[in-house]
Amino acid sequence: MPNAIRLTGIEKFFDEDSVIVTKTDQRGVITYANKTFLEVSEYFEKDVVGKPHNMIRHPDMPHCIFRKMWSRIKSGKEIFAYVVNRTKLGNHYWVLAHVTPSFNTEQQIVGFHSNRRVPDRTSLTEVIVPLYQKLSALEREVPDLDTGITVADSYLRKMLQEKGIGYDQFIFSI
Ligand SMILES: Cc1cc2nc3c(=O)[nH]c(=O)nc-3n(C[C@H](O)[C@H](O)[C@H](O)COP(=O)(O)O)c2cc1C
Repeated sequence: MPNAIRLTGIEKFFDEDSVIVTKTDQRGVITYANKTFLEVSEYFEKDVVGKPHNMIRHPDMPHCIFRKMWSRIKSGKEIFAYVVNRTKLGNHYWVLAHVTPSFNTEQQIVGFHSNRRVPDRTSLTEVIVPLYQKLSALEREVPDLDTGITVADSYLRKMLQEKGIGYDQFIFSI
């Protein structure tokens, strides 16, 4: 269970020049993790390869962001998203993730991969953290998760509509 580990509240940081990389199969099971991922997430390769990617899910991440991610990548498109992940010891680290499908020569999706870099600190503290808190609160307000995700997603859409920009523009504007 991803959320069974006790959270320490301690944030981990990684080098501005480093890229955290993982690859998954079509269901999101990890097939590759680079050295930086293993160092930051405090796992050994054998702990992660063959495991679902939600093993590092942090409870502060709104469900609606992952729903958007899966909807995008399954339809063959890329997405950028701010993500907080949990480490093996219950610490956490923030990334700006780029998640994209991998195609074979017939242009069929054969898996996915993600490259993650150090996120902009001001964007995180001033925009993303309060936004994710709001989205998570909306998701928890109703008894069933599916409705909660729809409510949170509508809030995000309305916020973007009021700004007159799409999700991608929003991510790059902050
Ligand atoms: C290539 C790829 C990379 C992913 N990276 C992460 C990640 O770093 N952290 C994370 O929590 N979920 C990541 N996910 C999404 C997870 O598969 C999952 O949807 C998410 O953790 C939510 O889990 P849940 O549906 O059990 O709540 C990734 C998925 C893919 C395909």
